[in-house]
Amino acid sequence: MKQVPILVLDFGSQYTQLIARKLRESGVYTEVVPYRESIEDIKARKPQGIILSGGPASVYAEDAYKPNDAIWDLGLPILGICYGMQLITQHFGGSVVPANHHEYGKAKLHIEKSDSLIFKDIEQDSIVWMSHGDRAERLPDGFEVVGTSENSPYAAIANESAQLYAFQFHPEVHHSVEGTKLLKNFAKHICGCESTWNMGSFAKEKIAQIQSQVGDKKVLCGVSGGVDSSVVAAMLNEALPKEQLICVFVDQGLLRKDEAEQVQDMFKLLDIPLITIDAKKEFMDVLAGVTDPETKRKAIGEKFIEVFDKEASKHTDVAFLAQGTLYTDVIESVSVKGPSKTIKSHHNVGGLPDWMTFELVEPLREIFKDEVRKLGLELGLPKDMIGRHPFPGPGLAIRVMGDVNEEALRLLRESDAIMQEELKATGYYDKVWQAFTVLLNVQSVGVMGDNRTYDNTVCIRMVESVDGMTATFAHVPHDVLEGMSRRIINEIDGINRVVYDISSKPPATIEWE
Ligand code: XMP
Repeated sequence: MKQVPILVLDFGSQYTQLIARKLRESGVYTEVVPYRESIEDIKARKPQGIILSGGPASVYAEDAYKPNDAIWDLGLPILGICYGMQLITQHFGGSVVPANHHEYGKAKLHIEKSDSLIFKDIEQDSIVWMSHGDRAERLPDGFEVVGTSENSPYAAIANESAQLYAFQFHPEVHHSVEGTKLLKNFAKHICGCESTWNMGSFAKEKIAQIQSQVGDKKVLCGVSGGVDSSVVAAMLNEALPKEQLICVFVDQGLLRKDEAEQVQDMFKLLDIPLITIDAKKEFMDVLAGVTDPETKRKAIGEKFIEVFDKEASKHTDVAFLAQGTLYTDVIESVSVKGPSKTIKSHHNVGGLPDWMTFELVEPLREIFKDEVRKLGLELGLPKDMIGRHPFPGPGLAIRVMGDVNEEALRLLRESDAIMQEELKATGYYDKVWQAFTVLLNVQSVGVMGDNRTYDNTVCIRMVESVDGMTATFAHVPHDVLEGMSRRIINEIDGINRVVYDISSKPPATIEWE
């Protein structure tokens, strides 16, 4: 198993992944595992230090999450954050109580012991992010206070000779001004980790790994034109001779305006051979008359597999299937809460038929979305490709409410293209996380010139998000929205009304179906 210098045990905090991201940004490779990871698996990664994350529970609750007791005897430095601090306090004989004041939001951390290595080059007073109900009331023997805040006399504690540290606040959250430095100090100065990890070294390591995994066999790689599958293809192209890589792009007729040509052009530019399958008719046939969102998704998923399957069977000696699985997918499927309930059946290349006994090549399994983008740049993918907004597998079908037909797709494609043009022209494309139009199954009365119209409504959806799990609607200036609306209504025959979606996720989702 690969060495992981810093291992984070996840106790269910919404911020846990940020710990790994911040440390990786600092050059220290870090992985997150569920709190109940076995001690054998922890040891196999040969960590130099362990971080116990925050979590929503109370350590004194009957069913409180507890790590394997053997972690305390590994002789490794440990940093506890929030819930992790309470675990340390409780384990070593201190006490934890519910706080009188729930501390939530910004607080000022005052360093009490400035010669502690954890505070190397850190400002004496800095803003940190607090979010806790419980707090340590009595410190365990051997521990001392190294930092305080107004409401937290034990904001940071340590037993330096045992290399045990604990913060009541969340250094991983953006609002903790010195947070990244604090985590880096723990990794570098307490655990002795070096800052050698970066996307360049990752790419080299992965390419070598692909070469040894694949040998002289062939790999089938499904591409969608999205960032993840393009980066996977570029990586395989670096690693393998051309004749061993088969990239397949299914044009299901549910792509945005000019998208199929753009994907083909990009692969030409990268000099990666691409097989494009025109399956527009087949997809339109299975979608005819289907209006229920889940039925649509299932129909598209099944058709995709059928088309991909037919293509795959034309090639001999294919032993591997490449997929753009990301670290977030891996963490999610083993999270402390168990796999999250399916809200929508997401369609990836996941559900391939049993007889397709390919081994998987998943070069992005260890990295986050923002790291995939850095890797893409490292591999020479064009900048505008890397910065593209996410686009769902089922494509425009889940943005046409109700029946998917050619006319509906035309209205959606044209309105989306205008909206994207305006977004780019006003400089907002890179400021929002995702933006698109939705064709509502709603006609309304309008007036154009002297004529009454009874036409379609388009909704503009723009969101701010970090990972798509939660999102808020984007606060784009009204004149930008006005420009989009004016052009969509004036330039597209059949649309007389444009609305803006002002819902956040949760409780809404980003896509409408
Ligand atoms: P929702 O609508 O669930 O979307 O809030 C969250 C993010 O996921 C994208 N999405 C998909 N991506 N296959 C994908 O590859 C899908 O079936 C799918 N459905 C939604 C969506 O565009 C948003 O970025």
